[in-house]
Amino acid sequence: LRILLLNGPNLNMLGKREPQIYGAATLPQIVEGLTAHAKELNVTLTHLQSNAEHELINAIQQSLGQQDFIIINPGAYTHTSVAIRDALLSVAIPFIEVHLSNVHAREEFRRHSYLSDIAKGVICGLGAKGYHYALESAVSSLSTIPSN
Ligand code: DQA
Repeated sequence: LRILLLNGPNLNMLGKREPQIYGAATLPQIVEGLTAHAKELNVTLTHLQSNAEHELINAIQQSLGQQDFIIINPGAYTHTSVAIRDALLSVAIPFIEVHLSNVHAREEFRRHSYLSDIAKGVICGLGAKGYHYALESAVSSLSTIPSN
């Protein structure tokens, strides 16, 4: 199984950035833990963090035929990007949307996502563990024959 992990803008600042909201772990630490977890689950995990919308879109487009599942924390693009939505629709690869913070307990503008209604699932408010839950869910959904 091949899973692409995408992290959007400002997530390279984890550890320094509003730690009371996003936690103390850095992105390299989180990715290291996920890579180890993926290995245990026999998954090839590829990671990209970018502050640039077009780089995230290019990575999604290039996943066609190359990735079985996408785990994405789109950062603030969650709330603004029709283009990332369209990229995900165009490749039709199942994805889970992850947020470290509980976006529903914060500013009103964070409550709307351009991705949630087309996601397989959404995980928010559980910190870095959310990525691990997404990984486990992706693996179990891909290794189970759909019943419908
Ligand atoms: C975030 C939530 C977004 O609202 C915010 O813009 C981020 C991080 C999260 O992981 O909690 O950059 O996606």
